[in-house]
Amino acid sequence: MIELLPSILSADFARLGEEVAAAEKGGGTVIHVDVMDGHFVPNITLGPPVVKSLRKVTKLPLDCHLMIENADAFIPAFADAGADWVSVHYEACTHLHRSLELIAQHGMKPAVVLNPATRVDLLIDILPMVHHVLVMSVNPGFGGQKFIEFSLDKIRRLAELRQQLGLAFRIEVDGGVAHDTVARIFQAGADLLVAGNAVFGAGRPEQDVRALLAAAQQAANG
Ligand code: DX5
Ligand code: ZN
Repeated sequence: MIELLPSILSADFARLGEEVAAAEKGGGTVIHVDVMDGHFVPNITLGPPVVKSLRKVTKLPLDCHLMIENADAFIPAFADAGADWVSVHYEACTHLHRSLELIAQHGMKPAVVLNPATRVDLLIDILPMVHHVLVMSVNPGFGGQKFIEFSLDKIRRLAELRQQLGLAFRIEVDGGVAHDTVARIFQAGADLLVAGNAVFGAGRPEQDVRALLAAAQQAANG
């Protein structure tokens, strides 16, 4: 099943409720929330208080992508705020297995994220623990960057491993998902497509979510 996850990073934060509602109306099924700390990535965004506010305006699952150091310390706060999915970076977690267990113990779906330069095969041992793997197809930190083409090989490798290992984790892609890349990304094997700039950048989230989903669907139908 193809799902489009609007990333609020590119939304107008003063009108966040309306922006989310419009993206949902267009067919967005999970809201992607980028949490940045200014250390792991060169940007700062938001934290549990904003997740708590979002929880009040939508019933859609909230997918919190933690681009932070010391994620373990914040996992309980994200659970209390109403997060549903929490992903942590392979590169930021010294004890990745412990972080994933902590997320699950707090009743949320655990996931791992890979930066563009990190090899997929490093995840083999922990793949049975994750709800999804998030492949970063740009270097994390900012919206509106250009899609890195070799991400398609990483998606294909993950799909192959999933089959070989008999697992059911989902494959999410984040960065540069747009009208001109969405078909190829879907064809490579991703089924959770995050889009920020392509959804909110032009100020018409409802129409753009619909158009992105239609392009992915068209690719699916061959
Ligand atoms: C970047 C974030 C993304 C961002 C993607 O670090 O993780 O979720 O919103 O933005 P676009 O879709 O604009 O590339
Ligand atoms: Zn993200």
